[in-house]
Formats: sequence, structure tokens, C-alpha cells
Amino acid sequence: MKTYRIAVIAGDGIGQEVIPAGIEVLKSAAKGSFQCEFTDFPWGSDFYLRTGRMLDADAFEQMHKFDAVYLGAIGDPRVPDHITAREMILPFRQQLRQYVNLRPMRLLTGIDSPLRGRTAADIDMVCVRENSEGEYCGIGGRLHRGTPDELAEQTGIFTRRGIERIARYAFTLAQGRPRRLLASATKSNAMQHSMVFWDEVVAEVAKDFPDVTYRKYHVDAIAARMVTHPQTLDVILATNLFGDILTDIGSAISGSLGVGPGGNINPERTTPSMFEPIHGSAPDIAGKGVANPIAAIWAGAMMLDHLGEKAAHDRILSAIERVIGSETVKTPDLGGKATTAEMTKAVLGAMGR
Ligand code: IPM
Ligand code: MG
Repeated sequence: MKTYRIAVIAGDGIGQEVIPAGIEVLKSAAKGSFQCEFTDFPWGSDFYLRTGRMLDADAFEQMHKFDAVYLGAIGDPRVPDHITAREMILPFRQQLRQYVNLRPMRLLTGIDSPLRGRTAADIDMVCVRENSEGEYCGIGGRLHRGTPDELAEQTGIFTRRGIERIARYAFTLAQGRPRRLLASATKSNAMQHSMVFWDEVVAEVAKDFPDVTYRKYHVDAIAARMVTHPQTLDVILATNLFGDILTDIGSAISGSLGVGPGGNINPERTTPSMFEPIHGSAPDIAGKGVANPIAAIWAGAMMLDHLGEKAAHDRILSAIERVIGSETVKTPDLGGKATTAEMTKAVLGAMGR
């Protein structure tokens, strides 16, 4: 039987609760057709407080033995955010060359959007976010600290190769979706070097996809459009920072942070890709057993899809849709009182039907 080796980093806060839920569902989805072998890594903020590092020094070499990484959440009030981000999540994305951040943004039937009158038919987008360079490249520095001359520089780097490959991925994805629309988020009115370059390269790639309707929008305008006309958007292509912001809007209009998944993908498969719920560690509800496991379960399904197990992905997704659609089991983020365990059990039950 085919066996996939999965590195599991449950991480901080509710990551410790939603990842075991996701693993239960993955095991059930695999039953009879393939196997997942899970290996736990204790990395994250507790590890940092014990060892002074977020990860083992050879973490990335260790990851190369795996087919995929399943990540919970990273972030802890006791550790500065830039440490958790810059020493863990961002190095993963960069060092494992996961240059695509793929984030579906869908309003599921059974969840109310904060946008009045919107239904599942109106909000069905996916963001293809550049995940390895741009505004997050990490180049820059600080000088003359603590003096009146103090300065900080944070450089954005955009390469032809980086833009071209993310654009190609996004157009290919759009080509396979019913509406075949691609909206590229830019800001070339104000950023005459990097964003004009972005637009030029994206427009060149667009020529290879004549069946996809391509439009560019300034990022402020597309942010507004996501709220006022979400039904006009399908695939959104964005830089690292713009994609970060737009996907939070996407998850907000989809009704709950507890639902949206994300994939950090290396399309060439030379390194393992990493799948995570896009919500954070939620310290306020951690340890209470009430976190919504749907985002983690959905991220697990995306991981199976990436590994080539599309049928298992579809089974999980349809179970999620039925459980949410029936509105009988709701965690507090969805206005109910169900626990993580009850929601997980409901999804497992729906998969059996
Ligand atoms: C996300 C998060 C991260 C990001 C943070 C934790 C650095 O907000 O995955 O969207 O900005 O990419
Ligand atoms: Mg974010």
C-alpha cells in the first residue's frame, strides 16, 4: 500500500487541538487505499522558551525525508511575533521553496457571511499568493539604534523568475475553474519599479492563457471589490504582502477564521509542501477544546490532493460541506457550543455516509 510520510508540527495554542483532529480525519480518509505515517516535531514557542530556538538547527534537512508537512499554528504571547514568524514560518516557506501560497476563500452553505445577503454562490475565490520573495524577502536592516538618526530599511525584492512562476501557477489554476477569471493585485500607480515590473511579467504570462480573462486591479480597489462585488472574483494573484492582507479579508467575508485552509506549495515537488489552517494559535481559547477543527481538516484534505489522493480530498471536502450545511454541529466561532471533538466526530460520521 502506498505510504506517505508526513511531518507534523502542531505548534502552539489551538494547533495542539486541531491537528490531532485533522490526523483522525486523514487516517479515516486513507483507510483501505493508502497510508499516512505521521512523525511529530515539538517545534514552536514552547520549544523556543526551552532551547532558545524555534526549530532544530537541521530542521530543513530533516524535512527533506518527508512527503509533506502538516502544520498547526505558531504564535505565543510570551514570544515576540517577529521571532515566531521570522524564525519558523517564513524560513519554512523560503527554504523549502514553497513559493505558492494557495488559499481557497469560500463561503460554505450553513455559514453566515458578515456581508448582507451573500450566499455560497457569491463567494468562491482562491488566492495564489507569492510566498518566497517580495515584501517578505527579509532583506534590510536597522542602523544607529536608539539615537535620533535611527533608521530601518525593509526591501522588497521581485524577480522575473519569481513573478513568472507564480503567475503561471495562477493562470493554470484559473484555466481549470469554471469561470476562468484571473485578477492580479498590483499597486503600479504608486510603486513604479516593482509593481510596474510585476504587471509587465504577469501580462506576458497572460498571453499564454488566452482562455483566461485577465484583469489587474490596484490592491486597494480589489480589497474593496472583495467586499462589494465578491461574486466577480475567482482567482486572485497577489504579492506576498498583498496576498497576506487580501486572504484575511477573504476569510472574514467567508464567515469564520476557523474554516479557511492554506497550502504552502512547491509545485516542482523537489521539497515537501506544507499545509496549515490559516487561523493562528488563538491563545484566548487554547486548551478549552472548543477550537473549530474544520480549517485544519480542510488543510489536511488539500495535502492529500497535493499528494495525488484527489478522491480522498473530495470525500473530506464533501463531508465538511455536509456537516456545515446541516447546521447541527457548530463550534463557538460559528455561533454554537460544539467542541472540537464533536465537530471532528461529525465530519468522520459524514465521511462514512
Ligand atoms: C499568514 C500569517 C503570516 C504571514 C505571519 C504569521 C508572518 O499572517 O500566514 O498569513 O503574514 O504570512
Ligand atoms: Mg496572514
